[in-house]
Amino acid sequence: MLPILLLLLSVLSPTLAWIPVEDWESGNVTASVGESGQCVCHVYLPDTTFPADRVQHMQQVSKDLILEVEIQLKKMVSYEGKLEVYLKQLKDLTVRVTILQTSADNYIKLDFELLRIELREFEILVSQLKESLNSSSPIFDSLYTEIHNMTLIVNQLETYDKSNLEVIRIEFAKLQRKLEECQKEQDLITPDIGNCNHTGILSISKPMVVQVNAHLNAGYQFGGWGKDSKPVRGYESMYFYGAYTSAAVYNFYLYSNYENLILRSAFKNHAIPNGWVGAGNNYIVHGNSIYYQINTPFSMSKLNLTSSRYEYRVIPSASQRFSYSYSENQNLDFAADENGLWVMYASEDSKGKIVVAKLDEKAFGIADEWRTGAFKQMAGNAFMVCGVMYATRSVDLNTEEIYYAYDTKTKEEKHLNIHFQKFQEKYTNLDYNPTDQKLYMYNNGYYVSYNVRFNKE
Ligand SMILES: *[C@@H]1O[C@H](CO)[C@@H](O)[C@H](O)[C@H]1NC(C)=O
Ligand SMILES: *[C@@H]1O[C@H](CO)[C@@H](O)[C@H](O)[C@H]1NC(C)=O
Ligand SMILES: *[C@@H]1O[C@H](CO)[C@@H](O)[C@H](O)[C@H]1NC(C)=O
Ligand SMILES: *[C@@H]1O[C@H](CO)[C@@H](O)[C@H](O)[C@H]1NC(C)=O
Ligand SMILES: *[C@@H]1O[C@H](CO)[C@@H](O)[C@H](O)[C@H]1NC(C)=O
Repeated sequence: MLPILLLLLSVLSPTLAWIPVEDWESGNVTASVGESGQCVCHVYLPDTTFPADRVQHMQQVSKDLILEVEIQLKKMVSYEGKLEVYLKQLKDLTVRVTILQTSADNYIKLDFELLRIELREFEILVSQLKESLNSSSPIFDSLYTEIHNMTLIVNQLETYDKSNLEVIRIEFAKLQRKLEECQKEQDLITPDIGNCNHTGILSISKPMVVQVNAHLNAGYQFGGWGKDSKPVRGYESMYFYGAYTSAAVYNFYLYSNYENLILRSAFKNHAIPNGWVGAGNNYIVHGNSIYYQINTPFSMSKLNLTSSRYEYRVIPSASQRFSYSYSENQNLDFAADENGLWVMYASEDSKGKIVVAKLDEKAFGIADEWRTGAFKQMAGNAFMVCGVMYATRSVDLNTEEIYYAYDTKTKEEKHLNIHFQKFQEKYTNLDYNPTDQKLYMYNNGYYVSYNVRFNKE
């Protein structure tokens, strides 16, 4: 049966052309001549529910995913407090594997891609735990090995050898027990959310999440992702994502939580209507509203996700002539921090240097403005933390630097050299989120996030 299915796939997809020619003969294929003399080929497909499209798709992305697993194995990152979600996910996974094991005919429906993604999430979690607990406990090394073993098993499963299913079930059960043990240690952590009792950014962690976007297409290079920086009740765990193949903004996808973001299961897709299409990708979600740039007329636009209502405001002095160095059209950059909502732009008046403007949310207008000394076109991007604007620039292909800070409280500027790793060279969206003190970057089609460490002298 199987060779026939694979044969079909090989016809559908040139990427599967590795199927040996002999399999043509061993399958249930008959040939005949049709009414008008054409050659007709019949292929017996015993299971019409076989997810040929998914397997084909999986083949295309699996290389990427395996590469990412390798990258993640090397990462030591900080803990974000999502263990419960992961544990639930792991339990669901164990249940799924058990079901698959007991219904032999369905096992080929196993979604290998999802399994891999979930395994990678566990791996990240273990890294985060290890670093945040500063633990040298052997439990972490053993967890790593198990996750790695599990990844190998999942890869083997692609050969549809049913005997592996019992193995994977046992492995998941073991993993689940270990993670439950870790959860007990996790209670020790208390993050300093909302506190500006520090003197600025000290360092940026290694990239924490590295995940290809929900289109599973790295060609969607212009976009953004993140969490609401001032969520309304009931939407505390909501994530957003939007991307396109050019520097325009056509869609916003909303996910109820991190799990659903990873599973690409959006609860809402706002397809932006004519007249409200955006530009530049430096948008942000704040108070259940998306703030983004539109070009006709050139202005700030707001999509209220509660009412689905659109509004715009022109900033007369803002210029369309100055963008950040990695992407065009980035004239208005929205940001949020512990103090509220901001927009950054450059003007003819400021001679291309970034102006920081505090937004009055209610009026959707500018409340106050500060001129910084950072040339917009030299910066990769900029973001706000505790009333301080930070600007970044490229050091090399894999390194970015926070090189400049402007404090709106003291009106003082500072030159910095805080380096951090990039997964890919360019990015179109970088923002700080005060609810979890993380940086979110949309890095050439990949979701990337970082923990921020502050200087608490
Ligand atoms: C080929 O398919 C037919 C049903 O169309 C089935 O009766 C037959 O047993 C199959 N032969 C093989 C070798 O699988
Ligand atoms: C981790 O602990 C070691 C000693 O156990 C200490 O030297 C090191 O500074 C700690 N690192 C962090 C980031 O707390
Ligand atoms: C992982 O796999 C290796 C080789 O198959 C094996 O020796 C080892 O015991 C496994 N480790 C765990 C923790 O299951
Ligand atoms: C700020 O931090 C310093 C040093 O950690 C501490 O002495 C001070 O009491 C803190 N102030 C507030 C308002 O929390
Ligand atoms: C969004 O719309 C809701 C319902 O009309 C309203 O209560 C809320 O204040 C609006 N939010 C913003 C930021 O405009």
